[in-house]
Amino acid sequence: MRQVFVALGCGLLPVLSGRFVDWAERWPCHSSPNCVEGGAHSGFNVGWMALPGSEVWFVPHAGTLRHGQANIIDRFRKELASNHSVSFRLTPRHERVFLGRDDVVVYNAGLHKNDRTRLYQQLDNFGRELLAQRGRHSLPRWVYVTTVTQHFATSDGQYSNGRRSKRCQPSIPSNPRLESELSVLREGVNVDRILRVDDLDAGALHVGAYDGSDCTHYCMPGVPDVTAHRLLELVHPHDLRRRRPSRSRSSS
Ligand SMILES: *[C@@H]1O[C@H](CO)[C@@H](O)[C@H](O)[C@H]1NC(C)=O
Repeated sequence: MRQVFVALGCGLLPVLSGRFVDWAERWPCHSSPNCVEGGAHSGFNVGWMALPGSEVWFVPHAGTLRHGQANIIDRFRKELASNHSVSFRLTPRHERVFLGRDDVVVYNAGLHKNDRTRLYQQLDNFGRELLAQRGRHSLPRWVYVTTVTQHFATSDGQYSNGRRSKRCQPSIPSNPRLESELSVLREGVNVDRILRVDDLDAGALHVGAYDGSDCTHYCMPGVPDVTAHRLLELVHPHDLRRRRPSRSRSSS
């Protein structure tokens, strides 16, 4: 999702009016070629960009990351139950923002959690309660993006499952994370929309495609950009058609 955020930023560059990225002092490059190990253009935890009439945020929900919002789904749910609202505290302004009908919360569980039982329970509970709210029309839309797969040279492509070799697998037969996500999430029941990312055959497009070092992240432009485009179409179909950013480059 961080790569999707970067892709959104690149794609929307002609219309960006502001941005903030909290670059990491140190970023784990895992010996990937061309990776910057700290400071500008390395990695970041939170990102923000402003566009005419809207803003896009990226926030990690893993509490271990700086400015991460741990258990954000539980917090959303408690607030929904006590106040029928969903709010969010955003850097760099740190003010509490109430999300409304024009807002979209896009969520992805991420790759790193293996036992997802509790997380799925939280997503299911929050989603059902959100969709059943009486004031539903004034609350944000709730979109889930399925987790991309990995293409390591293991039995199922997943990093955690055995030995690795010098290449990523060009294709694998199934994505265990996507399958478990689709067994829990149902459009109209516990989520408004699901963006299904099918990347089983995209193994040759990873950063480490030919040395096997990183079969998780994708080269860019590539899969994240296609995902970003599909996400924009899903959350904003009419607006996207009406307001095509112009091709001309300004000097700003
Ligand atoms: C409840 O939600 C409203 C916005 O819908 C907000 O103005 C108010 O501050 C919230 N109250 C609490 C206690 O969070």
